[in-house]
Amino acid sequence: MADYQNKVVNPADELRPVYIENGSVMMIDQNLLPMELKILEITDWRMMVKAISEMWVRGAPAIGISAAAGVYLAARKHISDNRDDFRREMETAFEALGKSRPTAINLFWALKRMRNIFATALEKDSYFKINGSSEPELVASLRKETERIADEDLKMCMAMGDFGASLLVDGDGVLTHCNAGGLATGGYGTALGVIRSAHRQGKRIHVFVDETRPRLQGARLTAWELDRESIPFTLIADNQAAYFMKKGMIQKAVTGADRICANGDTANKIGTYSVAVLCKEHGIPFYVAAPFSTFDLNLESGDSVPIEQRSADEMKEIYPSCDFYSRIKTANPAFDITPAKYIKAFFTEGGIIYPPFESGIKDLIGKRHGVGTGAAEGLRA
Ligand code: MRU
Repeated sequence: MADYQNKVVNPADELRPVYIENGSVMMIDQNLLPMELKILEITDWRMMVKAISEMWVRGAPAIGISAAAGVYLAARKHISDNRDDFRREMETAFEALGKSRPTAINLFWALKRMRNIFATALEKDSYFKINGSSEPELVASLRKETERIADEDLKMCMAMGDFGASLLVDGDGVLTHCNAGGLATGGYGTALGVIRSAHRQGKRIHVFVDETRPRLQGARLTAWELDRESIPFTLIADNQAAYFMKKGMIQKAVTGADRICANGDTANKIGTYSVAVLCKEHGIPFYVAAPFSTFDLNLESGDSVPIEQRSADEMKEIYPSCDFYSRIKTANPAFDITPAKYIKAFFTEGGIIYPPFESGIKDLIGKRHGVGTGAAEGLRA
């Protein structure tokens, strides 16, 4: 098994959606891509709540990193010798960040890590002093934990990318849905990490990119990332996938995940379920790439995953603004659950998990206690 923790990476070489610089959190505005690559400066935790809920940043691991960065910003702003006031302000921030998006377990996992650091630091007077850096020790420790979460995620993505790429062969057509790339993670990507690794290994892969209605993460973000790296791809509308499968142009499908339950049921971007069902019909293996932090062993099955319902306005954006569209009803569930039976395997930083998933997930994730599973630490959304 590859030891991803000791993997040598140069974060500067990879696209990173969120990072800390001079006490501010810097973030790519993903709502503007591919038209404009704009880096936003997030200076306040309330702005971070908005950034997550309005999807300036999105993708499960990137949401987790951003929530952690929000805690850092809150501590920077509110630190005070009055511990009660400070604790109260921090609780308000933790709560608001925890409500910014409901489905990705990575957000709650990252907040839990930050809360552990905060709770320990709060008890120590020394953590309120400035020791040689420009920040009090408590704030610096929250910054370092945020950076650790991001750096670890990048390494995990590279490791899972290499595991997944071992199953892709020269000439494969690979379908992906939504964006599970560098933009959605600490860098490199989960599903796109698999494609990236195969491409960097010299395998000739052609990617079919689902547009991903209604927010078009495939058309705007995945296409942009693949183009930047000259990985060959074709953008297709979501409802064209079956056509290309039937024609024999797609050999594999790989997506990311927002939450994977103990039995392998997987929450991911709306439309993932239909991709998996189509794959089954056409005999195409459907894979999910995700780090341990995306597994939620507290949930037995996908039935209990909270599914985010977003504004109906997102559905109507492509239509002309007129009386007709303003008065008709739309629905906008942002995620769906792919039942485990449609999934061929999970790619993780610790290796590949094949069915039966219940024992496979328990064995691999359980054994890596402390490496980064919300599930193993008893997290609740
Ligand atoms: O609504 P989004 O854009 O945050 O949804 C993102 C996805 O569904 C991704 O596939 C998932 O978070 C995995 S990202 C590595």
